[in-house]
Amino acid sequence: MPDRRILVTSALPYANGHIHLGHLVEYIQTDIFVRFQKLRGHRAIYLCADDTHGTAIMIRAKAEGRSEHDLISGMREAHLADFAGFQIAFDHYGSTDSPANRTLCGEIWQALRDRGLVVSRDVQQLFDPQAGVFLADRFVRGTCPKCSAADQYGDSCEQCGATYSPADLVNPVSTLSGATPEVRSAEHLFVTIETLHSFLETWTTSSGALDPRIANYLAGHFLGEPLRDWDVSRPAPYFGFEIPDKPGHYWYVWFDAPIGYIAATSEWCVAHGESLAAWWHRGGGNDPPAEIHHFIGKDITYFHTLFWPAMLEAAGLALPTKVRIHGFLTVNGQKMSKSRGTFLMARTYLDHLDPAALRYYYAAKLSGGIDDIDLNLEEFAAKVNADLVGKVVNLASRTARWLETTGLATTYPDDGGLFARAAADGAEIAAAYEQCDFARAMRAIMLAADRANAYVDAEQPWKLAKAGAAAAEKLQQVASVALNLFRQITVYLAPVLPRLAEQVGDLIGGPIRSWDESQQPLVGLPVGPFQPLMRRVEATQLEALLAAAATQPPSPATLPPQGTATMTESATDSGEPLAAEPLAPECTIDDFTKVDLRVARIIAAEEVPEARKLLKLTVSLGGDATRTVFAGIKGFHEPAALIGRLVVVVANLAPRQMKFGLSEGMVVAASGAGSPGVFLLSPDSGALPGMRLH
Ligand code: MSP
Ligand code: ZN
Repeated sequence: MPDRRILVTSALPYANGHIHLGHLVEYIQTDIFVRFQKLRGHRAIYLCADDTHGTAIMIRAKAEGRSEHDLISGMREAHLADFAGFQIAFDHYGSTDSPANRTLCGEIWQALRDRGLVVSRDVQQLFDPQAGVFLADRFVRGTCPKCSAADQYGDSCEQCGATYSPADLVNPVSTLSGATPEVRSAEHLFVTIETLHSFLETWTTSSGALDPRIANYLAGHFLGEPLRDWDVSRPAPYFGFEIPDKPGHYWYVWFDAPIGYIAATSEWCVAHGESLAAWWHRGGGNDPPAEIHHFIGKDITYFHTLFWPAMLEAAGLALPTKVRIHGFLTVNGQKMSKSRGTFLMARTYLDHLDPAALRYYYAAKLSGGIDDIDLNLEEFAAKVNADLVGKVVNLASRTARWLETTGLATTYPDDGGLFARAAADGAEIAAAYEQCDFARAMRAIMLAADRANAYVDAEQPWKLAKAGAAAAEKLQQVASVALNLFRQITVYLAPVLPRLAEQVGDLIGGPIRSWDESQQPLVGLPVGPFQPLMRRVEATQLEALLAAAATQPPSPATLPPQGTATMTESATDSGEPLAAEPLAPECTIDDFTKVDLRVARIIAAEEVPEARKLLKLTVSLGGDATRTVFAGIKGFHEPAALIGRLVVVVANLAPRQMKFGLSEGMVVAASGAGSPGVFLLSPDSGALPGMRLH
């Protein structure tokens, strides 16, 4: 197969605020994906840009008494420094305020005009006479026209859930100036995307670009009825590009922002002597055709899965191969919050902690779905310390020094098949990376690290070292095995931990350039002096981080995102699980201990074809003890992906004869409160099958 050509983007961060740890879920995830593709030998380019236009920028610039251009150029520097701090390596980072973007916006606009998709209509909008601007819905507050709750947003009421037009608010107030806004009528331009309804229906369901759950969401919330015209212009004053054939009117920020993806590609092409057509024109006469992967958060789903494909279709450009949508970050189980001191900025983190730790933690949490991911600071420290420091780095730190004078053994010693086994795991680890199921990749890698550590524990090189010359050869062999297993693991971890990969290259074998380096052990090479590779995360660092976060100056970075559509109706963040299922009556500790909960490893998983919901699982409780369990998780988990993972089972449940066989226990999972998911529980890494839950 010829190498793939893969264009990858992250959503363009707004230039009105600094990068925080929520953003980084996306940029780290995308960076891992791109580094993985490059390591596999494919041509991947990672493109992004600052999203510089819109009301929020205009208002912030005004508040700070400087020009918009001054503001966005300063913010760009800050964004780039934060990204570099987290080893996020763009191939090009543009700006939506660039000449290339203006040109492309004009071309796509013309295509929409030529197809007769642009119409004009008057819109009633609130205008702040003091600030001299039209007010986006979120800059107006007032009393709900339905339930009379005070201090509600301009588009919806948090008390009764009503949605309305800001002009209907009772006693509206501009949050910019405190003035009473007046209703003014202004002409707006709209794109009639209903014309592309059937195209969107087909594309969302059949192109393979979207997870079927997203396609269902779109079908249920938008495509079930005619699509409303999309308002793409704003009257002056507005910070953006003036519409060439409509002086005094500007493109709405969400029109020019996604076109920024193409503009960034265009600038990269100019710098690298490539043709833009080869990436964004359909077919383009290229072999192989380019793939386009957009990584985005769930809040901007509909811009990327309805408007954007509609624009590309209308302009005859290439459509995304994949839109990869992730959930939102919570900190210690709750939305990041200034008042709780959990609004963690990228810079504050970098002041106190190692970026590699967060990269690894996010990788271990990301499984390619839209579930929110939680940064639990205690778990973060425990996981990084147990996995990276305790398992991975420890392999090198307790063996490298024995090889400083002799170097690696000249033939690879008998390791009982360990290297070969981990080499064979490479295909499954790569498949997990490809699906953005980084969590699965990390689990497989940590199992390899567990086996390598068990080998070192059994061979006890520190005893061999004490035995002197008599055991010198054996010592070199044992340490050579350990260091090879270590390097093999770091090849697999290189997309997540690029800095570690570099350091390992300095220790043995030079820079890691290809995934294939996981397939062959190294022999006869010198071993450099051992440098500490990674430090433990200490509680004091976390305390310092939280203390710094609590004293951060407030910044408009916390403004709600621009645009009105969100996925707040999605099951993932709507639930009040406790209210939906009240607590069971009190029980005593004796009641609890009657239930024997054990850690178990899934060793086989298969579908039960006749049953709609069941998977047949074989779980190991350690040693020879196994159980067959029928679990109602079909559709939520691929059987193959379950094999090897640790779960919690009720091990002393009376066996139950079912239609399909005997069920000898129960796998514990969470569900409920309007969420369709079934969520398996996993112990922290380090837990062993058979351990009891207390
Ligand atoms: N400027 C738009 C995107 C335009 S793309 C043509 C935007 N910017 S943003 O700065 O608000 O967000 C950038 C990305 O970060 C989005 O994909 C968004 O979903 C993601 N995240 C922002 N906050 C987040 C969390 N708290 N958690 C996870 N991702 C989040 O939207
Ligand atoms: Zn109300």
